[in-house]
Amino acid sequence: MKQVLVTGGMGFIGSHTVVSLMEAGFRPVIFDNLCNSSEDVLEGIARITGEKPLFIKGDVTSAADLKALFTGHNIDAVIHFAALKAVGESSEKPLEYYHNNIGGLICLLEAMQEHGVRNVVFSSSATVYGSAAHMPVDEDTPLPPAMSPYGSTKQMGERILFDASIFRSICLRYFNPIGAHPSGHIGELPLGVPNNLVPYVTQAAAGLRKSLTIFGEDYQTPDGTAVRDYLHVMDLAEAHVAALNRLQQVQDRPHWEVFNLGTGKPISVKTLVETFEQVNGVLVPRVMGPRRQGDVPELWANPGRAKEVLGWNAEHSLAAMLRDAWNWQQKL
Ligand code: NAD
Ligand code: UFG
Repeated sequence: MKQVLVTGGMGFIGSHTVVSLMEAGFRPVIFDNLCNSSEDVLEGIARITGEKPLFIKGDVTSAADLKALFTGHNIDAVIHFAALKAVGESSEKPLEYYHNNIGGLICLLEAMQEHGVRNVVFSSSATVYGSAAHMPVDEDTPLPPAMSPYGSTKQMGERILFDASIFRSICLRYFNPIGAHPSGHIGELPLGVPNNLVPYVTQAAAGLRKSLTIFGEDYQTPDGTAVRDYLHVMDLAEAHVAALNRLQQVQDRPHWEVFNLGTGKPISVKTLVETFEQVNGVLVPRVMGPRRQGDVPELWANPGRAKEVLGWNAEHSLAAMLRDAWNWQQKL
């Protein structure tokens, strides 16, 4: 299994995964419509790996784009990152989210079927767990109705792959990926005002935002702020290499598996901000605010299955994640 199609490979997680794939000896083919990324990413990847990966501009909702891609390249496996991912926006534009995330997945699977490509790794999300009653969550935790159209597209995506049993598929439920490649050549590029905590923290520390608002200090958590499971994006990237290796082991059999990808360590918003300040020696101006609608008080992973089956675990510390995030912000 050598040539790997990476849909959404110009984005935050995709670009870091492309680096890991190249370093592991795979030949990634990036397919992205650049709706949330820029072509400069190729330069960043080349500075790290010494080689520009192949990039094809195209849309996963376009059967014609996919046909041209699969006809022109011998693809062994697909990692499907391409999706819209803003939880709040998905409630404002549900049809756009279903069209892109579900329509795109179906279009991609149809093209794969047509061209005899059977191996697929799917980007799912911890958001599928909603407000789970017991922490940490493992993969057998029953899934409640999704809390947003975005969450619903991830639950449905997993189910579509389960039903489409001609494929060998692995669904990866990412918890909260943060940080950047330690070189600072690639990282997260949020457009406009960041929704996510860490890009907001780095922009507030850099003086680009007046202050960070901490959403809620009255949760039933040790310090009152919400708790998540943050993992380094390079650890997450490596998990995709492990998933491809796993698919290689189960060749010639139908297959569907799901894995949590997190550190298993609960971190509060307050702890994260204070650690950022200590590690980087900068202040993060901040104010306390009300809870953000739709946020769960706490969510962290039991990552045991990924360790046992994929041989993967997250290695970077919170300090390393926050140092790399700040390094990237300073180079922007
Ligand atoms: P991102 O927006 O940085 O990357 C997604 C990439 O997909 C972008 O480059 C975008 O241009 C491309 N894309 C979107 N729609 C496309 C289409 N129709 N055709 C071709 N390209 C398209 O997002 P990310 O943070 O790298 O997330 C990658 C995946 O991981 C997504 O599926 C997302 O839902 C999932 N995920 C992300 C997080 C997170 O916190 N970042 C958490 C859980 C799951
Ligand atoms: N937060 C703040 N201030 C901010 C931004 C965030 O206090 O300016 C808080 C949030 O309230 C939350 C925590 O920081 O308690 C983390 O928020 P993020 O937006 O960074 O991450 P979420 O856990 O809300 O959501 C992320 C992804 C989703 C994905 C989910 C899976 O954005 O796409 O993880 O758990 F579905």
